[in-house]
Amino acid sequence: MTLVVAHRGASGDAPENTMLAYQQAVEMGADAIELDVHLTKDGKLAVIHDETLDRTTNLAGPVAAKTMAQIRRADAGYHFEGPDASFPFRGKKLRVPTLPEVLEWLPEGIGLVVEIKAPESTAATVEALRGSKVRAANAVTVISFDERTIDEAHRLDPELPVGYLLVPFQSAEPALTFAVEHGYAAIHPWEVDLGLDPGPLITLARAYGRLVGCYVVNDPDRMKQLAVLGLWGFVTDLPGLARVTLGPRPAAD
Ligand code: G3P
Ligand code: CA
Repeated sequence: MTLVVAHRGASGDAPENTMLAYQQAVEMGADAIELDVHLTKDGKLAVIHDETLDRTTNLAGPVAAKTMAQIRRADAGYHFEGPDASFPFRGKKLRVPTLPEVLEWLPEGIGLVVEIKAPESTAATVEALRGSKVRAANAVTVISFDERTIDEAHRLDPELPVGYLLVPFQSAEPALTFAVEHGYAAIHPWEVDLGLDPGPLITLARAYGRLVGCYVVNDPDRMKQLAVLGLWGFVTDLPGLARVTLGPRPAAD
């Protein structure tokens, strides 16, 4: 079953990387949540995509230069624009979550894909995941574009599945070989780089015992094609559309 992974939560419908976006993703039938992690000045794990607060909140400046308490004062719904060019989430008390907060909340049966954006957050992220419910359920994976970060996560916890995010236009086949050599469980190319027929790459990955994910798929025809080919999962901003397209989640055992 190809997993519907909500990219920064249901980020097409709610402000990215907020608890609301994660809650909506689960309500829409996502199989897993994808989120991004940075380290704050006081060593806390802030769940935010960018290095700075500027694009997504009403505050400015680098995450690494602020304490978590300072970051929690930011309005994480400030810049989300609704279809009518309004800002419907301003002042709605949406905050930048912490990774432990998400781990505590994450409902049973929902997976988690943790993208480490800041290499200095690797050890704390691995440590936070070590005692988590989602880790005990074997439903979490750590991914990064940075090979040294993935290697470090893998070294710190060899049983924690790690995946290699490929930048746009990066060749998937050499990355697959690299993943085998370095003990990564999966590669995650840019969706476009899978080409018109992702079948041969998925078959090759299977032969190597690796999984293939990809980012970001919002087109229903592509979702269907990837599911038929048995892709591990795809990241989407529209988990509701993905669920309708692929059909309901199988009932839990
Ligand atoms: O799942 C991978 C994807 O999230 C990588 O891109 O920029 O959204 O973090 P980005
Ligand atoms: Ca990400």
